[in-house]
Amino acid sequence: MEQTNDRAIITGGSRGIGRAVAEQLVTRGHDVLLVARNAETLAQSTVALNALGPGKAWWFATDLTDQPTAAGEVVAYAERVMEGVPTLLLNGAGGASITGALDASWTLWQQDFSLKFWGYLAMMRAVLPKMMENRRGVIVNLVGVAGKDPNPTLAVASAVNGALRAVSKVLADEAKSAHVRVVNVNPGATDTDLLVEMARGIAARTHKDPAQVLAEMRQGAPLGSLPTAWDVASLIVFLMSDAAGFITGTSIDIDGGAHRGLA
Ligand SMILES: NC(=O)c1ccc[n+]([C@@H]2O[C@H](COP(=O)([O-])OP(=O)(O)OC[C@H]3O[C@@H](n4cnc5c(N)ncnc54)[C@H](OP(=O)(O)O)[C@@H]3O)[C@@H](O)[C@H]2O)c1
Repeated sequence: MEQTNDRAIITGGSRGIGRAVAEQLVTRGHDVLLVARNAETLAQSTVALNALGPGKAWWFATDLTDQPTAAGEVVAYAERVMEGVPTLLLNGAGGASITGALDASWTLWQQDFSLKFWGYLAMMRAVLPKMMENRRGVIVNLVGVAGKDPNPTLAVASAVNGALRAVSKVLADEAKSAHVRVVNVNPGATDTDLLVEMARGIAARTHKDPAQVLAEMRQGAPLGSLPTAWDVASLIVFLMSDAAGFITGTSIDIDGGAHRGLA
């Protein structure tokens, strides 16, 4: 990220971590295109971001499971409204189904891989050649610690995140010669809508009250509280900046030290 005039595509930009990244970029003078499914939430977030400024915001509603068509459409729209090749991509449209590997239906395996693995990969394949031709660009993928510490109740997400770590590494290798970077961020439990959804999933499996599960997740936070979307966004915006110019082909955990393996 240079001092001015970056053009960012943010998938999952209408809510949660993606939305917080959009806010931090816009206040630093960069333009953003938010991508998600719900047009109303996208429009509301875009109005709020444009009121903040000085960067500008646009939105594009699409289901990112529909690949590779959706990625091509997103990038074409981004180039049109932002008047140039995107210089930043945050892949953040994903989820984390609470399920074991055998409990998950084949359809669920396919859906979760379609959104997060195929979705992230299609966006990277659509944008990387353009960034490389421009010799400018940073891609950050919101992955997750389950890709390092496979978790039996996040079986599908663990596999998706592990696969994303591998593909990001090889894409980072391909992009190096053009000075384009690809970095993964691994949040642990982070206080967003997704956490509430996960608490509901755990409650259904354990026959507990969802509010109690959520409270336990918050109370069990390694550093006394869970990171917010804003906390994770601050790391992402740093990784997008020139100050992180030598960080590529790796992943950074932001989980309060919960991950037990060596980095
Ligand atoms: N929060 C955590 O604890 C945590 C931990 C580890 C990893 N992560 C990862 O970080 C990423 C962001 O998480 P978050 O907590 O910010 O999630 P969130 O608050 O639930 O936001 C998800 C965003 O993705 C969009 N989205 C969902 N499905 C989509 C689809 N099919 N097509 C297009 N857009 C879609 C949502 O908008 P619409 O619903 O309108 O489409 C929303 O903008 C995810 O990949 C998640 O797995 C999160």
